[in-house]
Amino acid sequence: MTGLTGTRKQSLVSRMFKRKNMDDIIAASQNSEHKLKKTLSAFDLVIFGVGAMIGAGIFVLTGSAAAGSEGHLAAGPALTLSFVLTGLVCAFCALAYAEFAAMVPVSGSAYTYTFSTLGQMAAWIIGWALVLEYAVGNMAVAVGWTGHLQEFLSHHFGISMPHMLTSNTIDVAFEASKINPENLLTTIPLNLLGTDFFIAVYQAFNLPAFIIVMAVTALLYVGVQESAKTAAVMVFAKTAVVLLFVAVGAFFFVNQGTTLPLAETALFNNWFADGWNTFAPNGLAGIVTGASTIFFAYIGFDAVSTAAEETKNPQRDIPIGIIGSLAICTLLYIAVSAVITGVVPLDKINHEAAVAATMSYMGYSWASLLISIGAIAGLTSVLLVLQMGGVRIFYAISRDNLLPPFLAQVHPKFQTPHVCTIIVGLFVAIFGSLLPITLLAEMCNIGTLAAFIVVSLGVILMRFSDPKRPRPFKCPGGIILPAIGIAGCLYITTGLPSVTWALFWGWFTLGMMIYFFYGLPNSAKMEAIAEMKKATIPDLSQRQAEKEAASTLEPV
Ligand code: ALA
Repeated sequence: MTGLTGTRKQSLVSRMFKRKNMDDIIAASQNSEHKLKKTLSAFDLVIFGVGAMIGAGIFVLTGSAAAGSEGHLAAGPALTLSFVLTGLVCAFCALAYAEFAAMVPVSGSAYTYTFSTLGQMAAWIIGWALVLEYAVGNMAVAVGWTGHLQEFLSHHFGISMPHMLTSNTIDVAFEASKINPENLLTTIPLNLLGTDFFIAVYQAFNLPAFIIVMAVTALLYVGVQESAKTAAVMVFAKTAVVLLFVAVGAFFFVNQGTTLPLAETALFNNWFADGWNTFAPNGLAGIVTGASTIFFAYIGFDAVSTAAEETKNPQRDIPIGIIGSLAICTLLYIAVSAVITGVVPLDKINHEAAVAATMSYMGYSWASLLISIGAIAGLTSVLLVLQMGGVRIFYAISRDNLLPPFLAQVHPKFQTPHVCTIIVGLFVAIFGSLLPITLLAEMCNIGTLAAFIVVSLGVILMRFSDPKRPRPFKCPGGIILPAIGIAGCLYITTGLPSVTWALFWGWFTLGMMIYFFYGLPNSAKMEAIAEMKKATIPDLSQRQAEKEAASTLEPV
């Protein structure tokens, strides 16, 4: 009973900073009531990582990052350096994720790692930031999916879908003149952190985005293995078109003169006509702004760690999945951005479908059809993997009673967290049909950067607080690489616009309210109930032993 009294006395304040024991975390994940099916291999995880990464970032956002857009400086051809910079920062963070995921192979990813290093409240904050990353990121991808579907149908088949059924209800414009009067219901002028902008509400709903998210949700409801197989097919399709694009670009530059006169001077003119000014029109500031936008393209390697509990040999396979997928995508991204900025002059770069449009610009319209198909497949696989990641985080948070515990149910037949799957699916499908893509992508970036910073910090803290714990994978160079990762992430956040910061703080405040009004008291209550049960109902083995002891005393 002492334990029970102790639990009751434990103040809510000390609970906020209470850390979870790592061995308990691993043991809880093995509890049969909540156990997930182990089916994934290292290869599946690399596919998952690439599946999550190549998507709207490279197919859609590259154009506006290179050429600049509303409130964003152009990176110019130096966008290639933005990709190198972001790739390096992500590599440092990826090593930190790999160390943690191999040490604690459970499904909650950064949320769980934070729980064991910085305590419950910090874990909640990161879990809440991860919702921004996975769910809000997926909303942006769903909007990009509709854009590519539209482009594919109209450009290649002459079919145009109604504006009202393919546009998002809400848009953000920085000048009143940018608001499109077509189907406009109302406008709300706002000023956040000194930035003036308008929220425009249209009579529109992005139906294809809604449908594709619900289809992905149905697939995830049925099972991870099925989803991994589907993702594999789509990942091969999109990787193939990206490679085709790079190969055609290389051919374009090498094959100068006779057949392709444009190629003779394209690369030189676009990159160096006026020296460094052409290459990086806004200098370092443009490169960092570009990095903060295309950071979105790298999001996803961390999703690999959310599948740890469903991996056959997580200690070995999770680091391979995280680092392998990041390395593949970094090389592809640098090559793709070099081709786009080398071939197309900045003012002619397409902002909606940069890769496909560059292919047409080079004179290969037939190949732009393939690019569109690859992009649609690519975006679908991103939806699948990020959705799975988001659901796993929700599941882990609910399992800790910080969200209503009914969310943590596992389907008796499919062994998937089906309740979380449906709720996250509806959330993404509805808001992905309402909100604008740039806002969603930047919100996703800020949430992810927050998670990367905390995970890297966690690795550093663990090196001091629990140095003897076995680390099947260890970041080389002590704490230096995670520390550089943290500095790099902070640097990238400086490129994000103030509106994104304001909305991020709004999201943070909402999260803290949920934590203080529900998560904190509920987790305390549930723990007290569990302690009480433990104290009043002796466990089965003890009762069995008592029975046996009694039977030996019975007279014959
Ligand atoms: N990295 C993913 C994409 O670019 C989120 O779509």
